[in-house]
Amino acid sequence: MSKVFYITTAIDYVNGQPHLGHAYEKVITDVIARARRSLGQEVFFLTGLDEHGQKVQQAAQAEGKTPQAYCDQLATDWQAFAQKLELTNNDFVRTTSARHKEFVQAILTKLHAAGEFYQKTYEGFYSTKEETFLTDKDRRPDGTFDPSYGEVIKLSESNYWFKLKPHQQWLIDYIEANPSFVQPDYRRNEVLGFLKNNELEDLCISRPASRLNWGIPLPFDKDYVTYVWFDALVNYITIPAAHGDAAVLATAPGFGLKTADSSLSLWPADVHVIGKDILKFHAVYWPIMLKAMGLPLPKQILAHGWWQKDGEKISKSTGNIVDPVAVINEWGLDAFRFYVVRELAIGPDGNWTDAGFKSRYQAELANGLGNLVNRSLSMLKRYRNGIVPARHDELAPDAAKAIAETRALLESSELQAALQSIWLLITRANQYVDQTKPFSLAKDPAQAKRLDEVLYNLVETCRILAVLLWPFLPGTAGKIYTQLGLLGAPEKFDTSGWGGLPAGHAIGEPAPLFPRKDV
Ligand code: MSP
Repeated sequence: MSKVFYITTAIDYVNGQPHLGHAYEKVITDVIARARRSLGQEVFFLTGLDEHGQKVQQAAQAEGKTPQAYCDQLATDWQAFAQKLELTNNDFVRTTSARHKEFVQAILTKLHAAGEFYQKTYEGFYSTKEETFLTDKDRRPDGTFDPSYGEVIKLSESNYWFKLKPHQQWLIDYIEANPSFVQPDYRRNEVLGFLKNNELEDLCISRPASRLNWGIPLPFDKDYVTYVWFDALVNYITIPAAHGDAAVLATAPGFGLKTADSSLSLWPADVHVIGKDILKFHAVYWPIMLKAMGLPLPKQILAHGWWQKDGEKISKSTGNIVDPVAVINEWGLDAFRFYVVRELAIGPDGNWTDAGFKSRYQAELANGLGNLVNRSLSMLKRYRNGIVPARHDELAPDAAKAIAETRALLESSELQAALQSIWLLITRANQYVDQTKPFSLAKDPAQAKRLDEVLYNLVETCRILAVLLWPFLPGTAGKIYTQLGLLGAPEKFDTSGWGGLPAGHAIGEPAPLFPRKDV
C-alpha cells in the first residue's frame, strides 16, 4: 500500500457564484495535482462546497428557498464551474451529504466522550456576519471592531467549547521543527507570532439551534448544531473515510458507512491549498483538532494571496469583479489558467488588469508559444512534407535546463517560476528561428542538411514543450501533441527527454493555438 499524494482546496461557501479568487485557488491546485501525476505519483485531488452556516442560510432566505434547495441548485453551478476549469478532482465534497454529516457526528461523539468539550455560558460580543465570538482583544486601538465583522452585538449564550489551551506549546514546537508545514515562510512566521503572543482562547464548536439551525446537529445534544468551521475542516478526512482510508476510519469507530480498504492510504494530506484569510483555521484549529482525534497532521498548508482588480478589492456590490467564465468564453481556458499562474506566485497578493491579461496573451501566448509551434510545424510541412528529419541536438542543452528546472520547481509547487523557466526555452527557440533563418536555408539546395538539423531542433522542442506545459495548459499541450501527429496526451514528464521524436515520423496538421485578437 503506497501513500497517495493527497491535495485539497478550501471548500467554498455556496452563497453566490464563483469568482476569480475561487477560480485561482482551484487552478493552482489542479496544476499541482496534474504535475504530480505527470511526475509519476498517484494523486487524489479534493475540492467541494461548504454548505452550512449562517451565510448560506441567509442567502437562501433572501431567495425565499429552503437552505437545502438553495444549495442543491447552486452546487450544480459550482460543479459545472469545476468542469469549465477542467479540474482533475477525484471527488467533490458537499458538507450537506450524508457521508460528511455522519462522519462529523462520529468525530464529535468521540471527542465528546474523550472529554475534549465542555459547556459554558458566554457573555460577550458576537459578530453575526463572521459567526464568531469577539473579545476586547479584537478591538482596534480606537475601541471599535474592524468593519469586516459587520454588526457586533452583545450576547449571552450557552454553548460547547473545545479546549485549545493545552495544545498551544506543542503546536509552536511543531511549527518550529517543521518549516515546510506552513508555507510561504512569512505566513509561518505570522502563525508563530500569533501563537507566541496570545493565549489561545477555547473554540466554540456549537450554535444553539434556536438561533441558527442550518448545521449538523450535535450528536450528544440536539439543541445545538455544529459550528460551521468545525464541520467544514473535517471534510478533509471525511472523504478519505468515505473511500475507505483505514487510518481515518479507525479514528471514528461510529462511522458505519464504509469499511476499510487496506489498499488505500490518503491521509495525511500532502498539501492543503488555502487563501491567506483562513490561515488561522488551518494552521491552528485544524492541527489541534487532528491531534485530539489521534490523527497525523497534514504535511503542508500552502497559503496563497488575494486577487484585487485594478488595485481595488473585488466586490460584487461595487461591480469590481472579474467573471472567470466570461474570460474563458472569450479567450479560452488555457489563456485564463496561464495568466493567473504566470502573473502571481503562490503567496503574495495579485492585481488583475484587463490590459495586463491581454498583453500576456499577445506577447507570451500568441507571439511566444503559438508562433513558435505554428511556424516550426508549418515549415516542416512545407519544406519536408511533414516528415521529421534525423535527430540533431543543438537545442538539447537548453531543453535539458528547462526540463531539470521545471521538474524541481513543480516538486516545490513554485508554479510561476516553472512557467518562467519554460518560457526561457520558448524565447530561445524563437531566437533560434530568427538566427538560423530556415526560410532562407530552404531556398538553397546546398543547405538541405542544415535545414534538416534546424527543423529537427524546432519540432523536438515543441514536443518537449507540450510535456512541460501539460499541467498548466492541458488543452494547448494536447493540441501541440496532436499537431505533431502523436497519440495520447503529453502527460508523462519522463517523456520530456531530448530525442523523443523519431526520424521519419509524420506530423499532423498545424493550426494556430492562440488566434490573434485585435486589442
Ligand atoms: N468555506 C470557507 C473555507 C472552508 S475550508 C475548510 C471559505 N470559503 S470562501 O468561499 O469564502 O473562500 C474559499 C477560498 O477562496 C478561500 O481559500 C479564500 O481565501 C479564497 N478566496 C476568496 N476570495 C479571494 C480572492 N479575492 N483572491 C484569492 N482567493 C480568494 O473561506
